[in-house]
Amino acid sequence: MTARADAVVVRPIEFRDIPGFREAVGAVAAERRWLARTSAFSLEQTAVFVAGNIAHGHPQFVADDGGRVVGWCDIFPVPREVSPHVGVLGMGVLAAWRRRGLGRRLLAAALDAARGRFEQVDLDVYGGNAAAQALYRGAGFVEQGRRRGGRKVDGVYDDVIIMTRFLEEPR
Ligand SMILES: CC(C)(COP(=O)(O)OP(=O)(O)OC[C@H]1O[C@@H](n2cnc3c(N)ncnc32)[C@H](O)[C@@H]1OP(=O)(O)O)[C@@H](O)C(=O)NCCC(=O)NCCS
Repeated sequence: MTARADAVVVRPIEFRDIPGFREAVGAVAAERRWLARTSAFSLEQTAVFVAGNIAHGHPQFVADDGGRVVGWCDIFPVPREVSPHVGVLGMGVLAAWRRRGLGRRLLAAALDAARGRFEQVDLDVYGGNAAAQALYRGAGFVEQGRRRGGRKVDGVYDDVIIMTRFLEEPR
């Protein structure tokens, strides 16, 4: 692990990042608290997702620490015919790399890349995830609603908070 966060590069994902990206998602998912899943996607699912993002130019960035993927942020189109203007954001930073500004850098890069492509960026964040909520609020996301007790993992309920960053105002 590098000691300096400014040595970590935030850049668009590349094909060579597929295994490292999968590993990073798997590690954060295994914490069982923050993401919509608790285990990694398969290598094939990950490859299809990343290849699609690269082919279509959907924003996807990684934090690269000397060749290791230590964080990611992607914005993927909502799979709904009637919402072509909405993207869904997912992100995470490996536990040992948190609180060094990488989440903020990844989010800023993805939102910049989303301009002109999406009008709105949606995400779900859990009630117990104060860190992510603070990060998103600071980046201009607003709470749009809440599914009370919409998450239940290991018998523990949590609220699902729906947040949106409006890149353009709906008229
Ligand atoms: C949420 C997450 C991506 C933040 O990444 P990070 O690199 O630690 O965040 P940064 O260091 O860039 O911090 C940016 C801002 O986020 C907020 N923040 C980050 N960690 C926080 C914490 N532990 N408590 C409160 N606020 C926090 C602060 O507003 C911070 O700004 P500040 O440093 O000026 O106070 C990271 O905690 C993470 O990966 N968590 C697990 C996965 C996850 O929650 N993904 C999002 C699912 S919706």
